[in-house]
Amino acid sequence: MAQATFEEISASDFFYRNRDIAGFTNPSRAIFAAIRELMENSLDAAESQKIPPDIYVRLSFEGEATKDTQIYKLRVEDNGSGIQPRFIPSAFGQVLYSSKYKLKQTRGTFGLGGKMAVLYGQVTTHQAAMVTSCTGQSKIYSFKLMIDIQRNRPIILDRKVLINKDNWRGTIVEFSLEGDYLRAMPKILEYFKQTAMVNPYANLTFVDPKGRLYKFTRGTTAMPEPPSETLPHPYGVDVELLQRLIQITTENNMAGFLKGNFHRVGDITAQKFLDFSQLSPSKNPKKLSHEEIVRFAQNLKKYTDFLPPDASCLSPLGEELLRAGVTKELNPEYLVVYQRKPSTYAGHPFIVEMAIAYGGGVPKRGSFVIYRFANKIPLLYDEASDVSYRVISAMNWRRYKVAPDMPIAIVIHICSTKVPYKTVGKEFIADRPEVRREEANALREVSRQLQHFLSRQEHVHMEKKRLGIFSKYLPRIAQFSTMLAGETRVPDIEKLLKSVQKYGAEES
Ligand SMILES: Nc1ncnc2c1ncn2[C@@H]1O[C@H](COP(=O)(O)OP(=O)(O)O)[C@@H](O)[C@H]1O
Ligand SMILES: [Mg+2]
Repeated sequence: MAQATFEEISASDFFYRNRDIAGFTNPSRAIFAAIRELMENSLDAAESQKIPPDIYVRLSFEGEATKDTQIYKLRVEDNGSGIQPRFIPSAFGQVLYSSKYKLKQTRGTFGLGGKMAVLYGQVTTHQAAMVTSCTGQSKIYSFKLMIDIQRNRPIILDRKVLINKDNWRGTIVEFSLEGDYLRAMPKILEYFKQTAMVNPYANLTFVDPKGRLYKFTRGTTAMPEPPSETLPHPYGVDVELLQRLIQITTENNMAGFLKGNFHRVGDITAQKFLDFSQLSPSKNPKKLSHEEIVRFAQNLKKYTDFLPPDASCLSPLGEELLRAGVTKELNPEYLVVYQRKPSTYAGHPFIVEMAIAYGGGVPKRGSFVIYRFANKIPLLYDEASDVSYRVISAMNWRRYKVAPDMPIAIVIHICSTKVPYKTVGKEFIADRPEVRREEANALREVSRQLQHFLSRQEHVHMEKKRLGIFSKYLPRIAQFSTMLAGETRVPDIEKLLKSVQKYGAEES
């Protein structure tokens, strides 16, 4: 029998072989995913500095590739933080290299998206990518890059330094890729519209291969507070993480170690927890045996009195901005927005924000229009697999006097330091009981308010109808009775009409 042969592959080789799991499934999905990944990077880069983003995306036709696919050049330019030149090659040429492996809310999480786009472009067109960036200093750096896929390292083909005469700051990424824009177009345009909805402070411009210009102008310059980095919450810490924390700590006693490394653990909580797990506060954490570390990690999960995480590491949109965004893109007749208090799953804080929009520009589709967002990213694929879809389907809508054929849009936004995505393609949210409960509670609240609005509207409608009948028949009755009574002067019925009208007028 032949012997098995073994080999090792790099992270970029793995994603080169398994592009599907990062969302680069076919030429249509790939072009959508490339635009989306670069936009997310640009939005993160502007938001982290609290700069209202100005993002310009241009897709231009370069030539035919196959019968159904074309070669396009994609260019994305932003006014964000910029990247320091020494990090540019790896940021775009080394898979799993990121500045976002931190405990705070960002769109990027895996250190993968931008590289996947560049890698896909490289393997489909064999051309290099251009990255130009400036952090606001006097020089602009421009790199011509490719990825050495087998070694997972950037290859720098050229490097230029320019003088920053116009005080520019931001990043421009440009590369060619194969794709099917015609098939991807509806999703790409929907992506822009929804991104504008959940980032109402952003200016987004898109020029498509036909030269058509799509502009989404900001409706406000108010922005949410950028998130701050946080320490791990005890409920989210396992043995591996505990070992890493012990390795790097400079604390030489357990009390100090707990206070210095865990989110919301102060003197009292540390003391109580150490009592609970029968550990001496003066013990040196570096002296813990493996068994003691395992028990320590188990006790972290068992102890019920840790304080819940605070939300400073999150950057939700807030009710005002959510209202501004939905109004800007949907212009509904009626809108309720609602933000839940922070909650947690497995030690990760999260916040659910919800809006329900009725009438006006909301399309009528025979079923509710659902807009799903996670960390301000629109999720456009696999709706039926998302926890929010289940929550919406499980609602007893009749109780709220709501029917699926009404023009209703439901907007759900979850933000977290770790959004429970089911795939690295970031398409849908896993069904976590804590997330499901928060979403269901939020949905009930906005639906209750919609129900009030609808019944008030129905009331007004009925009242108008009643008044209509009165004003139609009263003059005739008055005329008829005058005639019957042999009188000539028809009495003034205006007063009577006014008295029945009073209630209705107040309501409308
Ligand atoms: N437009 C940009 N502006 C500033 N920094 C960027 C930009 N695009 C990418 N980066 C940097 O490159 C890193 C890698 O990006 P990416 O591969 O998309 O992974 P991720 O966004 O998950 O970190 C980011 O963490 C960020 O530091
Ligand atoms: Mg990214």
